[in-house]
Amino acid sequence: MAHRSAWKNRWTFMLATAGSAIGLGNIWKLPYMIGVNGGSAFVLVFIACIFFVGIPLMMTEILLGRRAQKNPLDGMATLANEAKTSLHWKWLGGMGMVTGLLILGFYSVIGGWVLSYIIEAARGVFTNVTGAQSTANFDALLASPLTLLCWHTVFMVMTMGVVARGVNSGLEKANNILIPALFAILLVLLGYSMSVGDMAAAYQFMFSLDFSKITPVAVLSALGHAFFSLSLGMGAVMVYGSYLKRDISIARTTVYIALADTMLGLLVGLAIYALVFANHLEPSAGPGLIFQSLPIAFGHMPWGNLIGTLFFMLVAFAAWTSAISLVEPAIAWITENTKIKRASATVGLGIMVWLLGVAVLLSFNEWKGVKIVFGLSIFETLDKLTSTILLPLGGLLMAIFAGYWMKKDHVQDELNLNDAHFKWWRTLNNIVAPIAILAVFLYLFEVIK
Ligand code: PHE
Repeated sequence: MAHRSAWKNRWTFMLATAGSAIGLGNIWKLPYMIGVNGGSAFVLVFIACIFFVGIPLMMTEILLGRRAQKNPLDGMATLANEAKTSLHWKWLGGMGMVTGLLILGFYSVIGGWVLSYIIEAARGVFTNVTGAQSTANFDALLASPLTLLCWHTVFMVMTMGVVARGVNSGLEKANNILIPALFAILLVLLGYSMSVGDMAAAYQFMFSLDFSKITPVAVLSALGHAFFSLSLGMGAVMVYGSYLKRDISIARTTVYIALADTMLGLLVGLAIYALVFANHLEPSAGPGLIFQSLPIAFGHMPWGNLIGTLFFMLVAFAAWTSAISLVEPAIAWITENTKIKRASATVGLGIMVWLLGVAVLLSFNEWKGVKIVFGLSIFETLDKLTSTILLPLGGLLMAIFAGYWMKKDHVQDELNLNDAHFKWWRTLNNIVAPIAILAVFLYLFEVIK
């Protein structure tokens, strides 16, 4: 078999996996979900989901990848073979690869919105913008298929450009530059929010312990989001784990990555809400929070254009490093099974996902009336199908495979934990996580009925 790439060291693996985890989920989705779901109650439940389900399952996914040393589909076949069980488990890997491409189909379109907002902010479009104007600007973007198409194309070319260069010169290099840059911008943003925003109100909104606001919906959307946010259940973390050398501790690395991902989401949330409250804007503005409300805040504050530009650059970097990980499982499968070169495979897959993205962007304007299921548009269908069904389902099956099918010694061989920690992992992986995920599915059935 051809030589397999590997991360240079633990640090580059951590940056890459954190790069995958930190994305639109943290900066675009988490803050508005906090707003819509009542603030502090949601934050508390989300943190609990990360600790009790996210961290153990991330360990599981990395251990599966590292043991298999292959792309997710062949990797699951290898592991099933080792566990002397049905080779059909490989379809779990196959499902993950497809899920990644489906997510990228809409992720790239939103990534495109972000790119266009970098330019808008730099051009000074936010200066003194009113609420109505800001909404009109956003609506105008969504109503223009051509503008959306241009930015979606740019985002896809950026993503595929990195993937084509391979693990070390592409993925590793991009993450080594973009993730530190992202944290640097975050610090600037936080400093700015502290000086001109209303941090006290933001803190109160996000962290005052108010148990009365915890509702079933908040709990279930928090769990779903824990999956999306940590990139779990579709093989991205698995394929990144397959490039990880054997001497690195999975548990410790996972905890660092999950902490970085969660902290970044919460800090961005604080920065955003400090600006929102200082400008008397609505915290529960929904998906438009960063595209409609935030520009109003930037437009009325000193240095707003500069900070606005930096803010959208931060979002773009985050989205870019996540997008890369969405295609890597499928690329690894193609290059490990055919003679097709990485660069050609990237172009081929890129065109397919680009076409899917075109359908997604049209669903905001020309094809607005097209409903796929339950009255959902193409964009909404892909979003809901992947984050509420495919990712948790993938995670559930991985947990069950590692917990009940793999030999205990093989798992322990990879995790290398002391007895107490291993027991913890097993309880969370074998019992807590599956029950939590099944509860989400039951709830979904209730809602759909
Ligand atoms: N974790 C990414 C985010 O928060 C999204 C993602 C999901 C990336 C699944 C890869 C796999 O935006």
